[in-house]
Amino acid sequence: MSSSIDKQVILITGATAGIGFDTAVYLAADSAKNHVIMGARSAAKGEAKVKDVQAKSPKGTVSFVIVDQNDDESISAAVKQIEQEFGRLDVLVNNAGVAPEPTGKVWTTRKHLRTIFETNVFGPTILTEAALPLLKHSKNAMVINVTSGLGSIAGLDTNLDSNSPLLPFQGVLGPGYRMSKAALNTLTAYQHLHLHKDGVKTWAYCPGYVVTDLTADRDSRMAEPWCESSETSAQGILDIVHGERDAEVGKFVTKRGGAYPW
Ligand SMILES: NC(=O)c1ccc[n+]([C@@H]2O[C@H](COP(=O)([O-])OP(=O)(O)OC[C@H]3O[C@@H](n4cnc5c(N)ncnc54)[C@H](OP(=O)(O)O)[C@@H]3O)[C@@H](O)[C@H]2O)c1
Repeated sequence: MSSSIDKQVILITGATAGIGFDTAVYLAADSAKNHVIMGARSAAKGEAKVKDVQAKSPKGTVSFVIVDQNDDESISAAVKQIEQEFGRLDVLVNNAGVAPEPTGKVWTTRKHLRTIFETNVFGPTILTEAALPLLKHSKNAMVINVTSGLGSIAGLDTNLDSNSPLLPFQGVLGPGYRMSKAALNTLTAYQHLHLHKDGVKTWAYCPGYVVTDLTADRDSRMAEPWCESSETSAQGILDIVHGERDAEVGKFVTKRGGAYPW
């Protein structure tokens, strides 16, 4: 894999499904200079998903690394493997996330909260810190934290402007998921404050409301005309990697331009 060292080395967590998989497809297809590392929770899944991307004959190259966001040893081992294989990381897409709260209910449980925060908050925090030495070796380091409009605290304002794009999501239930994405947004602002001077660019990126297996309502989502394909989310990440959102670094950006209030 040493030939990949001259390439833009990109790690996408949760690349085995949904937005992460589509992002791997888009970034691998985009350029012969891209090497995409797909984060997977098992070798079997990683190998299968790498083959799925390769079957599309991308210009770039692709491999996988086992990384479970809920497991520090897995994170350390993944970073060590990337260091040994590439010596550098150019783009980290902190995409893996879960939303296991029961939908349509106002309650949640400690178990749900722990799972959500382990995956959506602790994982990207620890992984980014572990990967920082590799990111600092890049000439154009980027960290893209995949968040959600549901993480906007401003979006919960009872006096929210009637024209706000966050208004349709105001009543969405699930405090754990919403809190986790607000925490990820805080992480983004913190990373921007502390890492920008080292040349590491950070965004909180909302991929929009798209059809995936994140929640148990895939079928009903597909029936909603405003719920889009997760390929639109991948396109937004590609735009960031292309440098088209550099003017909005450190912000809570949406996929087709513009930013949400924190
Ligand atoms: N879908 C939407 O409308 C929407 C909207 C706003 C934000 N988002 C955010 O977008 C991101 C991707 O969501 P998605 O909709 O694509 O969900 P998805 O289809 O359920 O995919 C989630 C991915 O995360 C992986 N994952 C789950 N737990 C993990 C862990 N502990 N360690 C490592 N990987 C783990 C899954 O791996 P396995 O294949 O092993 O399960 C899978 O690859 C999430 O952060 C989500 O919050 C989604």
